Amino acid sequence: MRRFLIIGWVAGSLVFAALVSFLVDLAGRAPAPPPQAATRPAGTAPAQAQQSEIPTQAALPQWVGSLQNADPAAGEKIATGGIKTIPACSSCHGQNGEPLDGNRTPRLAGLSPFYIAKQLHDFADGSRVNQMMSGYAALLNEQQIADVAAYYASRITPFTPPGGTKQPAVLERGEQLVTIGDDALMVQSCTSCHGPRAQGGDPIVPYIAGQSSQYISAAFEDWLSGRRKNDADGVMAAILGKLQPRDRIAVAEFLETIPPPGVVQGENHQ
Ligand code: HEC
Ligand code: HEC
Repeated sequence: MRRFLIIGWVAGSLVFAALVSFLVDLAGRAPAPPPQAATRPAGTAPAQAQQSEIPTQAALPQWVGSLQNADPAAGEKIATGGIKTIPACSSCHGQNGEPLDGNRTPRLAGLSPFYIAKQLHDFADGSRVNQMMSGYAALLNEQQIADVAAYYASRITPFTPPGGTKQPAVLERGEQLVTIGDDALMVQSCTSCHGPRAQGGDPIVPYIAGQSSQYISAAFEDWLSGRRKNDADGVMAAILGKLQPRDRIAVAEFLETIPPPGVVQGENHQ
């Protein structure tokens, strides 16, 4: 049953994502018309689920329109020079979205503008909590969020896989959960939402390949403790609740070894 809910959620999120790309695509061309109720291709989900799971207009965040007028050059100024009392984002996230501030900082290069903007709005409204980021995000207005999101989304940066050797059995288990899932645990593959090789599914589902295991593990803890509750329908917390700690570690250890999108295999590796 849960599985159907999740599949329904995925289908629903795809419709939602289509609406988002539709809106973003309109950038500079015409004012966006209000999104119409989208129709799901016949036979993709039970009829009853269709009614409740297609996101309504209300489900589209009200700030989504600001992405259309985003100015990456203005975003670059915020990223590299800071604004108000916020230090330059680049002092932790790097000029091109490469994490500089230890392993607890996520990589931003090439995440979707929608995802980056959503996280900043989520930090600001408390649905995701972090000691530093919550304070910073609350100081940014909607336009500044859109601008800095557009800037980091446009960046590409090299990837260096972590040094040290990992236990093959741990990596194997991690790869299994990420790419296949585990039927016995009723856990679907991470790639079913996060895209092949965990390169990102659509504007609302980020790439997770190449994020550090420390950052991924911290995100897991935040979902499990409720500090992060910004994922639609609590889907991440539901999945994590079915994994033992050692499985969660295996997944994080595996993910940090895979290159994120935009990095040419072999070119940027040490
Ligand atoms: C002092 C270091 C620091 C500075 C400065 C900083 N950040 Fe962060 N940022 C972090 C850390 C650490 C996290 C991880 C937070 C967590 O675990 O929830 C983070 C998380 C994020 C995320 C979430 C990414 C994801 O994958 O979900 C975004 C987006 C972000 N920061 C954007 C910014 C922007 C834009 C600025 C500048 C306005 C900025 N940050 C300034 C340290 C910093
Ligand atoms: C049903 C869809 C779905 C599945 C399956 C799924 N995720 Fe997610 N995941 C999401 C969504 C949606 C988000 C973004 C939530 C948000 O807006 O912050 C997310 C976010 C994340 C993030 C945060 C990334 C960041 O930059 O902060 C991590 C880490 C993550 N997922 C790991 C996993 C792992 C590991 C698995 C497999 C065990 C998995 N996910 C399976 C939908 C899914």
